[in-house]
Amino acid sequence: MQSLTLALILLLSSAGATAKDRWITIDSDAVGTANKHLNAKSFSVDESRNGITLLKVNESNLEEISHMMHEEHHRCGGYVLHESLAEARTELYGDSAKIFGSKSLFADYAIDQGDVIRPLVDSVEESKIRGTILKLSSFKNRYYKSKYGVQSQTWLRDHWKELTSHRSDAKVEFFKHTRWAQPSVVLTLKGESEEVVVVGGHADSIAGWFGRENATAPGADDNASGIATITEIIRVLMKSNFVPKKTIKFMGYAAEEVGLLGSKEIAKDFKRRGVDVIGAMQLDMTNYNGSDLDIVMMTDYTNAAQNAFIGKLIDEYVAGVSWGYDKCGYACSDHASWNGEGYPASMPFESRKGNMNRKIHTSGDTLKVSSDNADHATKFAKMGVAFVVELDR
Ligand code: BES
Ligand code: ZN
Repeated sequence: MQSLTLALILLLSSAGATAKDRWITIDSDAVGTANKHLNAKSFSVDESRNGITLLKVNESNLEEISHMMHEEHHRCGGYVLHESLAEARTELYGDSAKIFGSKSLFADYAIDQGDVIRPLVDSVEESKIRGTILKLSSFKNRYYKSKYGVQSQTWLRDHWKELTSHRSDAKVEFFKHTRWAQPSVVLTLKGESEEVVVVGGHADSIAGWFGRENATAPGADDNASGIATITEIIRVLMKSNFVPKKTIKFMGYAAEEVGLLGSKEIAKDFKRRGVDVIGAMQLDMTNYNGSDLDIVMMTDYTNAAQNAFIGKLIDEYVAGVSWGYDKCGYACSDHASWNGEGYPASMPFESRKGNMNRKIHTSGDTLKVSSDNADHATKFAKMGVAFVVELDR
């Protein structure tokens, strides 16, 4: 009897050893490589900081990881192996884990709100997104220094007010900037918790080099599509009377096209006031279906753990939609403003970088380029609804 138990223990522990989890840290820009070469289930991205990402991997994959780091990134080994999760986290954060408090650093990425999310996802309407894109792209431009850029933001503020008029916990305001005319628009749904979830996109547009104040810049994809997607997330949540526990903020940033100016001021202001943003999603260009992948998570200036979480949300809630990773290569949108202040940010994008919409920043950036429909953007609205509800815990 005793020897049978011993044999069983030996058997179980050797089976355990073949599936051993190990913790490694790698440069964040190599996460896309890991994603490309390994079965998505054989590793998970857990946390990143300062360009270093912590991964949980199966021990049996370590050799392969080493090989691909050598081949694609010309790094020998290419990762640091840690004895325990605790040790890996110490390498990643050092003492700075205290800056934001433990809660916000390790946002709770559980996925278990299906009963709430599924009906919301089903009520996303393409025609609503299409309508908002057409409205926003009907302004001559939404340039940060033009009167049209102020008019379009006034329309957006009033539209978000209408969508939330039945809610006493909702407030829609301008965030005014001192150095240019165009304000940002911020909708706040105030929950009991001080923790904040941000979903934003830039509301301005640009075209040409001279006389931009009077240029024709419809910016239908860049970025009426993102603002229209956010507007649909708001509409769906408000129609169902979703009441958040956390504070949810939707933002239409001014002056992105001239150097992320609006979002930089906002993110700096939040950091200065110690606002605890536990997650920020940037929606910039959501309606041009240019790649084999539907949704592409940008790996640079973003948080790898949150990116992986959003990927899982897509798998769970946005049926039949594919996703993967790519990078912008530079601080290409407002996610970089949040990331720069130390907040976890993500940028789910409409295509791979190499298949991008070539009409942006011209008078030809119209809905026609997307076959006059908003089908692609509906996938992002569904993902956004899931993001808000699953982080609201
Ligand atoms: N929507 C673009 C960013 C973008 C373009 C991402 C193409 C991926 C593919 C954004 O509005 C933009 O134009 N950003 C500027 C940089 C910014 C710092 C002025 C850009 O890409 O040149
Ligand atoms: Zn742009």
